[in-house]
Amino acid sequence: MKTLGFTFMPLKKIKAIRGMHDITPDKSGHWARLEKAVAAVFATYAYREIRMPIVENTGLFHRSIGEVTDIVEKEMYTFADRNGESIALRPEGTAGCVRACIEHSLLDTPQKLWYNGPMFRYERPQKGRQRQFHQIGAEAFGYTGAEVEAEILLLNAKLWRVLGLEKSISLQINNIGSSEARAAYRQALVDYLNQYRSDLDADSQRRLETNPLRILDSKDAATQQLLEGAPALSAFVSQESKEHFARLNELLAAGGVEALHNPRLVRGLDYYNDTVFEWVSDELGAQGTVCGGGRYDGLVEQLGGKPTPAVGFAMGIERLYLLLEAHDFAALPGSDAPGAYVIVADPAYQAFAFEVTESLRSALPEFAIMQHLAAGSIKSQFKKADKSGAKFALVIAENEVAEQTVTIKNLHTGEQSIVSVSKDTTELAAALK
Ligand code: HAM
Repeated sequence: MKTLGFTFMPLKKIKAIRGMHDITPDKSGHWARLEKAVAAVFATYAYREIRMPIVENTGLFHRSIGEVTDIVEKEMYTFADRNGESIALRPEGTAGCVRACIEHSLLDTPQKLWYNGPMFRYERPQKGRQRQFHQIGAEAFGYTGAEVEAEILLLNAKLWRVLGLEKSISLQINNIGSSEARAAYRQALVDYLNQYRSDLDADSQRRLETNPLRILDSKDAATQQLLEGAPALSAFVSQESKEHFARLNELLAAGGVEALHNPRLVRGLDYYNDTVFEWVSDELGAQGTVCGGGRYDGLVEQLGGKPTPAVGFAMGIERLYLLLEAHDFAALPGSDAPGAYVIVADPAYQAFAFEVTESLRSALPEFAIMQHLAAGSIKSQFKKADKSGAKFALVIAENEVAEQTVTIKNLHTGEQSIVSVSKDTTELAAALK
């Protein structure tokens, strides 16, 4: 391109990493309100926030999630730092949370904790699946009974109600027993499936050697058919585990939470025992799991702490966001729009406008005010006020400045009134409620 006699060469644009997305301002308002709604629900169940680093020692994830899981085998972002130490971007929050609790001796008493932040998995990006995604998760330590699981699932159900998603998300639960029960079952499953090895899909054939229980999760129709005749995990689960599961079902029924028993639900991380669960939606396509979790009584000890029972879950914020978007964010509490748009007829009136808006912001700390800061006719400013979604336009023009007043127009009803601000903005603030 030739301009003013020199050649303008646009530089090549640098793009975000594949599978990692910006949360642009059109989204960040909804996103922040979603986070606020979740935080409020956590507070009502007496969960406290914990914030962990995004980077941890690679070994932490190997020891917790499991060597032969998809996450550790092929999805971790692992680097050598400048010292040659192997570190990883966290693929999930549970391992780091347990590490932090042991490190700060938080587990002498029961703890109910939650966290929110980015996680990283090198997966093939698609709708509802990113390489940097965000989880809000919670972990409860020190509780052995099914009560804590019931409370967590009640908390989840409450959250879906707050977000208006209770009809879009349903609960599946299972009891996968102790690690000994699973070891015995694993052998029985391998013995059975070995007879049909060549009929299994490629992934399941590989898993037969590495992580046979994950075959239960296969989406392949022929594999699913073969599984019809396979031994059932429930036959290997102890009486104690069965009673635990029955108690959980009883508490859920009493709490009005519907749960489908899915005997094939095993989850993709190794640390679970007994209760596992997933909240799923059929409105999201292939990536329908919105939230997953379960009990993991062995992990604290496995990471060097004292034996401590534990239960937790994590939900994918992007997936929840997609669901909310499909419902036009109708039930999401709060709004992105400013409460009022201040129209300033002439830049000469800006000093008066600032006096009014600053005083209003003190009087109404939660109320968002968009003051027009550029030039422009009153007509064009009214258009901008409408577009902003504000309920009120506050007009400051010649008369208003002369008489120390503000004209309020309700943009929803067209109603208009004039309020004095000669003493203070009390009357104006009251009119905006
Ligand atoms: P997870 O099932 O691996 O469990 O992940 C939990 C949720 O994170 C999923 O249900 C999904 O909504 C979201 N998620 C996972 N991967 C992606 C991705 N690539 N893109 C978008 N969303 C994704 C855990 O991470 C366990 N730490 C949960 C837990 C906590 N268990 C006990 N305590």
